[in-house]
Amino acid sequence: MPATILDGKAMAKAIRQDVARDVARLRERGLVPGLAVVLVGDDPASHTYVRAKAKACREVGIHSEVHHLPVDTPEAVLLETVRRLNERRDIHGILVQLPLPAHIRPKAVIDAVRPDKDVDGFHPLNVGNLAIGDRCLVPCTPRGILEMVKRAGLEVAGKRAVVIGRSNIVGKPMAQLLLREDATVTVCHSKTPNLPAVAREADLLVVAIGRPAYVDDRFVKPGAVVIDVGINRLADGRLVGDVDFAKVQHVAGYLTPVPGGVGPMTIAMLLKNTVEAADAQAK
Ligand code: GUN
Repeated sequence: MPATILDGKAMAKAIRQDVARDVARLRERGLVPGLAVVLVGDDPASHTYVRAKAKACREVGIHSEVHHLPVDTPEAVLLETVRRLNERRDIHGILVQLPLPAHIRPKAVIDAVRPDKDVDGFHPLNVGNLAIGDRCLVPCTPRGILEMVKRAGLEVAGKRAVVIGRSNIVGKPMAQLLLREDATVTVCHSKTPNLPAVAREADLLVVAIGRPAYVDDRFVKPGAVVIDVGINRLADGRLVGDVDFAKVQHVAGYLTPVPGGVGPMTIAMLLKNTVEAADAQAK
């Protein structure tokens, strides 16, 4: 039997409707949640993501503004932009789109964002609080993945979870979140020997390595939940994930598509983080 497809697009739509209701309630109290997105340079993929984020904000009533800086912007100017946004009372969330041009240190920029406005959850304070299980802003993609799994009615506690990829944006926070949900978690990466065998132990397999169609049926235990975080554009213009969908769909129990899986959930969680940040800052 082919895998059940986890429809991230439909789930994200339902979440956006909930967020729109929350925003309307805040607006009645005179609070308009505000998100500032900072984009440096002209990376086409980043432009696409930033446009999608701004559109999603508009649709739910969140104020959003994009600060587009030229590719040769000095690091000090970017840091000053972030500091000004930190101080603005009408901006509750700040997101600096990554990757940044090579002359800018991402760590300096991430550290400069006020932790309670850090809707990406990348600031060391939020990373640390996630690790020790305290309240924090959680990175949007892992939060969206967990939400997806829960909405599908799938159990996490007590399950074997394998995360392929150890990035600060997805792999590491995903592992922390799953641990917090009582999964038994293994994190794999490019130096892991016999990756297919380790992945095959997973009840829940999260793939975030950025290699098109890397994970095939050899990596998947029959019936497993497979979450594909990859968005890879091929030379012919097609978008494909890190999972070989055609092969894995005959083995997995549940599978996310690309596009229409994790991507829309990431944006929905950004909206949720922004509203929660606004609410917390108003208290
Ligand atoms: N680039 C790719 N994913 C992300 C993300 O989640 N946040 C930011 N700021 N940049 C990204």
